[in-house]
Amino acid sequence: MKNEILPPQPLELEAFLDIATEAALSAGAILQSFWGNLKSVQEKGRPGDLVTEADAAAEAAVITILKRHFPEHQILAEESGHQGSNTSRFLWAIDPLDGTTNYAHQYPFSATSIALLIDGVPQVGVIFDPFHQELFRAASGLGATRNRQPIHVSQTSALSQSLLVTGFAYDRRETVDNNYAEFCHFTHLTQGVRRGGAASLDLAYIACGRLDGYWERGLSPWDIAAGIVLVQEAGGQVSAYNQTPLDLNSGRILATNGHLHEALSTELLKVKPLVMPLPYA
Ligand code: IPD
Ligand code: CA
Ligand code: CA
Repeated sequence: MKNEILPPQPLELEAFLDIATEAALSAGAILQSFWGNLKSVQEKGRPGDLVTEADAAAEAAVITILKRHFPEHQILAEESGHQGSNTSRFLWAIDPLDGTTNYAHQYPFSATSIALLIDGVPQVGVIFDPFHQELFRAASGLGATRNRQPIHVSQTSALSQSLLVTGFAYDRRETVDNNYAEFCHFTHLTQGVRRGGAASLDLAYIACGRLDGYWERGLSPWDIAAGIVLVQEAGGQVSAYNQTPLDLNSGRILATNGHLHEALSTELLKVKPLVMPLPYA
């Protein structure tokens, strides 16, 4: 008989969700404990790309919990990289502290983001914002929740009525593809464009209807994998800028409530890079 690979069953997904939740809550307590008490804030390479002792401590706590329950699974964590055998179908993508710049400045918009990819597809997502005590959870086919209550994307169907969010990657000084032109374009077309500073929460806010659309480039899988599950399970849509299927490694994402997806994609593709005058070029 052929060795058939079965899709994960709801009970199995629930179990993954619960362990990811335990890990995210434990990271959240660590982030709270370092809040305002950081001894080390360092740049990782590019200006503004910060790392603190809170990132490392939160990541260690998440990995310890996941490994205790799933020693065979692969792990991809922002600060410590990849571990485990790539023969496993299961890969945990972890951002222990998404929104480090906000956190280092004590601007309370940061979260821990944990996703489980099965055969490369994000299927479980947990995002915990300890500063607002908001726990976002979702798994394929099981819906999305905020603090255990079901959530849904917004109904906004006109760009002129929408509130969007985006971000600017750490390489923004080095490339003309830095998203500045897109930001200006959508600022004119909508009721506003926010720059949250934590991609995971930007996506969670789309999922619960506070924001209508999000695009960004220069991202890593751990920034967005959990949020993708949330948006999809809350009734929204996620794709590449041109509406083709999203490639997690492309760094680019377009996520909306679904109603605005086509309009946002069309407008995004129209934008030409802003050529910055010296001395910013
Ligand atoms: C960053 C945040 C930010 C996004 C950056 C990310 P970090 O993650 O998600 O919103 O604009 O591209 O790198 O560095 O705070 O974990
Ligand atoms: Ca991040
Ligand atoms: Ca991070």
